[in-house]
Amino acid sequence: MLYIDAGSCVDCGACVTACPADAIVPHTKLKPEQSLFLGLNAEYYQVFPHQDRTPLALVHEQRRLTREGPFRVAVVGAGPAGLYTADELLKHPEITVDVFDRLPTPYGLVRAGVAPDHEHTKQVEKLFRQIESQPGFRYFLGVEIGKDLSHAELTARYHAVVYTVGAASDKALGIPGDDMAGSLSATDFVGWYNGHPDKQDLAVSLDQERVVIVGNGNVALDCARILAEDPTLLEGTDIATLPLEVLRRSRVREIVVLGRRGPGQAAFTMPELVGLAGHDGINVVVDTGDHDLVGEDVKTRLLRELAQRPVDPAKRTIVLRFYASPVAVHGQERVTGIEVGRNRLVADEDGVPRAVPTGETETLAAGLLLRAVGYHGLPVADLPYDAKSGTVPNERGRVIPGVYVAGWVKRGPTGFIGTNKTDAEETVDQILDDLDAGIIPEPVGTTQGLRGVIRNRQPGMVDLAGWQAIDAEERRRGEASGRPRVKIVDVDEMRRIASTARPPRYAALRRWVRV
Ligand SMILES: Cc1cc2nc3c(=O)[nH]c(=O)nc-3n(C[C@H](O)[C@H](O)[C@H](O)COP(=O)(O)OP(=O)(O)OC[C@H]3O[C@@H](n4cnc5c(N)ncnc54)[C@H](O)[C@@H]3O)c2cc1C
Ligand SMILES: NC(=O)c1ccc[n+]([C@@H]2O[C@H](COP(=O)([O-])OP(=O)(O)OC[C@H]3O[C@@H](n4cnc5c(N)ncnc54)[C@H](OP(=O)(O)O)[C@@H]3O)[C@@H](O)[C@H]2O)c1
Repeated sequence: MLYIDAGSCVDCGACVTACPADAIVPHTKLKPEQSLFLGLNAEYYQVFPHQDRTPLALVHEQRRLTREGPFRVAVVGAGPAGLYTADELLKHPEITVDVFDRLPTPYGLVRAGVAPDHEHTKQVEKLFRQIESQPGFRYFLGVEIGKDLSHAELTARYHAVVYTVGAASDKALGIPGDDMAGSLSATDFVGWYNGHPDKQDLAVSLDQERVVIVGNGNVALDCARILAEDPTLLEGTDIATLPLEVLRRSRVREIVVLGRRGPGQAAFTMPELVGLAGHDGINVVVDTGDHDLVGEDVKTRLLRELAQRPVDPAKRTIVLRFYASPVAVHGQERVTGIEVGRNRLVADEDGVPRAVPTGETETLAAGLLLRAVGYHGLPVADLPYDAKSGTVPNERGRVIPGVYVAGWVKRGPTGFIGTNKTDAEETVDQILDDLDAGIIPEPVGTTQGLRGVIRNRQPGMVDLAGWQAIDAEERRRGEASGRPRVKIVDVDEMRRIASTARPPRYAALRRWVRV
């Protein structure tokens, strides 16, 4: 959550206009269910008064390269980390940037992860559109590095290659029955409802009354909310078409979210809990078993208030259950129940509370199990890999001089969209240091003719104009049905639409600028 110090804020409203994710709202415009944020904000400054009024975000003077360019950088992955990296690099007129993504559409998890009912968050796309429109920026979308083009082919042509490929996989639970039909990862489920082309065949069956979600991070809350939401409200979002149909026919009444530790250790963040608490179409039940809900922190206070609310049987219910872990998945051919074990908390040698099973278990009847226990990065071809963290080992983003990482593949699958900006800044700083120090070898080749090489292997490559054509077509289809967009989920259809795009205005000038 972002806090604003009422003691020093002059209420000019500039931050409200500037915030790309619409995260700042004047107090006069808060909806009643959001009024909790006022108290949260005030309380923060009582605890952290920082009376010296030193700005927390210092604006640094723009760094300049000491070596003469031109320098070419390839960025692999057009998610937030990739686009923030490109933006930072393009602050240097000596640098041009080519951004590759395996999908014909950019924006990574902002398109395929952020929940469809969080439309304000997707406004960060406005910023991404500004980034991709800058001179010196080119897209090579629908091109998979490691398949359509190799790492060696990139390093031969670019001074630096930055991998921002995210964390495409998930963590396993490792309990009996976990691989049965009806046991899915939240990674797949989220991709499914968000229209990720690879996830549209996912078998999601919502024909039983209960779903169990393991893990209580923000992804778990997103999944729970989508499952509990009135489908008529989802019709006004960019949720993918087939999942919306499945959700319309859903028989689910209860979604149980299992947190292995207590409310004080819950991984979901306050804004997400406040959002859920303020949703008047969903019951939220708090179940701490035989543990008392003690503590005066804001999260516990809100959970205590939720625990006292009456349950309306006409609405779907999300149960936030604490001190509970799945121990086995029951069923013959598909999931019919989850055996849940109770936990108690024991501090480890660092004082961190850890969940320890008490040995007591019970079985919850359920037709679907979602594992929302975190994402996990996959190995990147020809780069070192730390299998435990699912990241590429690096030092401030540098793998070796000339090869870098940023975003989730660099630091692991945590943090918000904006976290990737500071992360990208650190990596770009490292690239600039290495360019200035002259330790990056001069590439043997150039990018001239690269487009032809790629087109030979991947004729459906999509450039900026192609992506803009897909975007316009999705919005056009959305307008016809009162939705922000209707996502196209078939890669061939995307490529076909992209191929009808006319070259952008000033294309000739752009080509000339790039030499
Ligand atoms: C379900 C979910 C919901 C979220 N919701 C929010 C939210 O509401 N607000 C918020 O602030 N944060 C949210 N986050 C966090 C935020 O999405 C991440 O911090 C951010 O997307 C990570 O950025 P990234 O660029 O590292 O990875 P990604 O966004 O995953 O982007 C990686 C890109 O790399 C591409 N790629 C992968 N491999 C290759 C390859 N071999 N060749 C070419 N391209 C490749 C992928 O197609 C993808 O486009 C959410 C995360 C999840 C999982
Ligand atoms: N709206 C938003 O802003 C938004 C939305 C979605 C995601 N995100 C961000 O994206 C990142 C990833 O989110 P996430 O929810 O995937 O991850 P996360 O925040 O790391 O949460 C993972 C959850 O899984 C639990 N867990 C891990 N292993 C487990 C196991 N073996 N058994 C039972 N539980 C287990 C963790 O419990 P422990 O705490 O006990 O380990 C935790 O509750 C986060 O930084 C998140 O804030 C933001």
